Amino acid sequence: MKFDTPATTNPIDQLKVVGKPVDRIDGPLKTTGMAPYAYERHDVAPDQAYGHVLGAGIGKGRIAAMDTAVAKAAPGVLAVLTTLDMPRLEKGQMNTAFLFGGADIQHYHQAIAVVVAETFEQARDAAAMIQVRYVREPGRFDLAAEAPNAKLTSADSGEGSGAAHEERIGDFEAAFAQAPVTLDATYTTPDESHAMMEPHATIAAWEGDRLTVWTSNQMVAWGRRDLAKTLGIPAEKVRLDSPFVGGGFGGKLFLRADAVLAALGARTAGRPVKLALARPLMANNTTHRPATIQRIRIGAGRDGRITAIAHESLSGDLPDGQPETAVSQTKLLYAGANRLTAMRLAVLDLPEGNAMRAPGEAPGLMTLEVAMDEMAERLEMDPVEFRILNDTQEDPEHPGRRFSQRQLVRCLREGAERFGWNRRAAKPGGHREGRWLVGMGVAAGFRNNLVMASGARVRLDGGGGVTVETDMTDIGTGSYTIIAQTAAEMMGVPLEKVAVRLGDSSFPVSAGSGGQWGGNSSTAGVYAACMKLREAVAQRLGVNSAEASFVDGEVRAGNRVAPLGQAAGVDGLVAEDRIEYGDLAKRYQQSTFAGHFVEVGVDAATGETRVRRMLAVCAAGRILNPKSARSQVIGAMTMGVGAALMEELAVDKRHGFFVNHDLAGYEVPVHADIPHQDVVFLDEVDPISSPMKAKGVGELGICGVGAAVANAIHNATGVRVRDYPITLDKLL
Ligand code: MOS
Repeated sequence: MKFDTPATTNPIDQLKVVGKPVDRIDGPLKTTGMAPYAYERHDVAPDQAYGHVLGAGIGKGRIAAMDTAVAKAAPGVLAVLTTLDMPRLEKGQMNTAFLFGGADIQHYHQAIAVVVAETFEQARDAAAMIQVRYVREPGRFDLAAEAPNAKLTSADSGEGSGAAHEERIGDFEAAFAQAPVTLDATYTTPDESHAMMEPHATIAAWEGDRLTVWTSNQMVAWGRRDLAKTLGIPAEKVRLDSPFVGGGFGGKLFLRADAVLAALGARTAGRPVKLALARPLMANNTTHRPATIQRIRIGAGRDGRITAIAHESLSGDLPDGQPETAVSQTKLLYAGANRLTAMRLAVLDLPEGNAMRAPGEAPGLMTLEVAMDEMAERLEMDPVEFRILNDTQEDPEHPGRRFSQRQLVRCLREGAERFGWNRRAAKPGGHREGRWLVGMGVAAGFRNNLVMASGARVRLDGGGGVTVETDMTDIGTGSYTIIAQTAAEMMGVPLEKVAVRLGDSSFPVSAGSGGQWGGNSSTAGVYAACMKLREAVAQRLGVNSAEASFVDGEVRAGNRVAPLGQAAGVDGLVAEDRIEYGDLAKRYQQSTFAGHFVEVGVDAATGETRVRRMLAVCAAGRILNPKSARSQVIGAMTMGVGAALMEELAVDKRHGFFVNHDLAGYEVPVHADIPHQDVVFLDEVDPISSPMKAKGVGELGICGVGAAVANAIHNATGVRVRDYPITLDKLL
């Protein structure tokens, strides 16, 4: 089904099941520990051996020699495979770093060997017995030091496209020079780790030349394609199964060393192999959110209207890497006739930087929305009013191109009202409760709404049950549930009559879970398949599908009523389709919006910040399930607090690695850090986005939160911190 005209009234609009805050259908499996995560698939292949991955102990250079004799002779060892045993493997289409093979070391903890043994302990012990002789080379590990060597780039420049440029509208420099009120400030955001609960883990088994991997991956079709490419085998020979993913946040978008080395280890040992990347490998072996250095300049008239806005961002990555697109929201969030955005990319020899929850906007809003607060202060304007004054209903870089929906002003007004914004002291440091300096902060939230083609297969059985199959993943987001809700709504059956099967590469290719496109796009794919099934049902029953209604397990047309299952016959009835998107995404700017409000207390003596209250008001199209959507947003708000106050991969700039590579050293907020969170969804439908009229929301929740925290800290203390996270030493 091609979606290329705005959605009109359709079966989803009944909202009997969709739009209801139903519990997760996979909830009991998860809370009882019965949901099979990758490492726990004990039943899928007999005789599983254990793999353990050894990471390189240098940041840059090559391996001169490896001695595996002692490791191979160690108890229980079945196979030792080193990176010197094969040439450098091709990397997947989506990978920046090479995953295995050859003597060259691109980054610290790059996989250099896998040991397969009868037990986990034997594999780990033997890996420690491998002797490696390295030749170190000097590496580029310091982003600021590499700034002069950075190259202008663009997000989609790819290799050799030559598209890198500054984007300019009007004459920024002239307008900025003339503006009576200006800000020119530089901010830094650190490298951050996805730090999801479930590590990267895979069980791999070969049957002849056919490979099956039970793994943890957000994008099944990409993973399958890239695994085949890396191993040099046809994609048809690979099956990838990822029905439950214990968190990803972007860290599991692409193929990683666990899948490659489980497959290679299994082939070498002649046994199925299970392996998980040890927690310390996750920071340096896989991927992270890259650090940025961002310069923002804003000029405004005394009336508060922005006349000039510039945002330049520097980030680093391995050769052939991509920039952190931290300027993307600045192209779209506020009006202003004269504009400049630019990204620069430095080559670094640190581990691969790549997408982490709301790549681009999360670190971009961390700085832009603090800059907006600084401007409001200079203008002596309320920061809510300053943002509202500079709202725009059209894409500021493409006049006349409208947003499909844009309710930022309502988000801010409603948030201010609910949060009690009028109680905020206009002057910083103006509110003290005992030892606590108390302040409130606001930020706009913005995240683009991306749409992706997505397929599904639906089967109707004689009992009126519906089974949905798609390779969509559930990374803790609620995919199982919203897909079941969609099929139930479309086919007119109660939720209990729907079974959902996800994550298997033998199912139709879906949008996958990434970029907050998964919820809207994957359910739209199910919608398309169900439309086809409805037609097939009508045909079998000999009624006109346009006149048929599907309600309460029955098909009704004119004065005919038939149980839905009757159309299934003995063999069942199957329909498969795929939603594809036309040019609506180009004709309209599709984005999601939020108003984030935060109250903090800062200890006047120690500088410790405690978040006291948080509120997010979100405008993100139709909310398919307010309960799972709320969970997404409060999780994202929590992550935003992490970005503001705690999260930072500490770079060892001499040796080139992230030092705090575990959950003891990499701090994230816990429940005690987050006393009270509220989420409000505006009642919105977006007929431009899909037949579901929904949009993404899982990444919107983090966008702007960190800045709201930083702005609240400034309101509490008068201290403006531009280098994140705001640890207490920066407030003293
Ligand atoms: Mo998201 S960073 O595209 O999983």
